[in-house]
Amino acid sequence: MTIRKIATVGHPVLRQPTRVLSPEELASAEIQRLIDDMIDTMRDANGAGIAANQVHESLRIAVIEVGHNPRYPYKPPIPLTVVVNPEIEPLDDEIVEINEGCLSVPNLRGTVPRFVNVRVRYLDRDGNPHDEIKRGLTAGTFQHECDHLDGKLFLDRVTDPATLTTWEQFERFHRDEFVDRITKFVERVGS
Ligand code: NI
Repeated sequence: MTIRKIATVGHPVLRQPTRVLSPEELASAEIQRLIDDMIDTMRDANGAGIAANQVHESLRIAVIEVGHNPRYPYKPPIPLTVVVNPEIEPLDDEIVEINEGCLSVPNLRGTVPRFVNVRVRYLDRDGNPHDEIKRGLTAGTFQHECDHLDGKLFLDRVTDPATLTTWEQFERFHRDEFVDRITKFVERVGS
């Protein structure tokens, strides 16, 4: 088990679009070890996902997993998913405002608009192609990770800077209202 160091906002690697992998590269021991390390690093930090450039590797790979996450207890579960060379597209114009955080943006959260319904195409770690529809908060998590791979942070999508809050002030002043709204949303869309 290897925990890698997480790049924080300001590090140029987070701003550089990542490179697509060839099938041969993906099968290599080095990349398979990177994927294992990304899973360990995400779990160690209680992240809902992590992108390769967050551990200083500018490659188009992300891992996503939501169990009982203490950082985001309202998120519906997502089984461990390794996404390689993902492409994501909205299916319609429906938007939900989600309060997000990020392992690369320590102690800050903010509200961003996300598409509710997206199509995501990717390879898994064995190179098998997937073509799936994601909805709700799960769709938001996939958009957050794909943004990383394009060199974007959630900060770029915060439409109202007045929503920016430390985790402490989120708990004190914003958590209840957000969790109430987002719980009703999750009940409606199912994820
Ligand atoms: Ni992030």
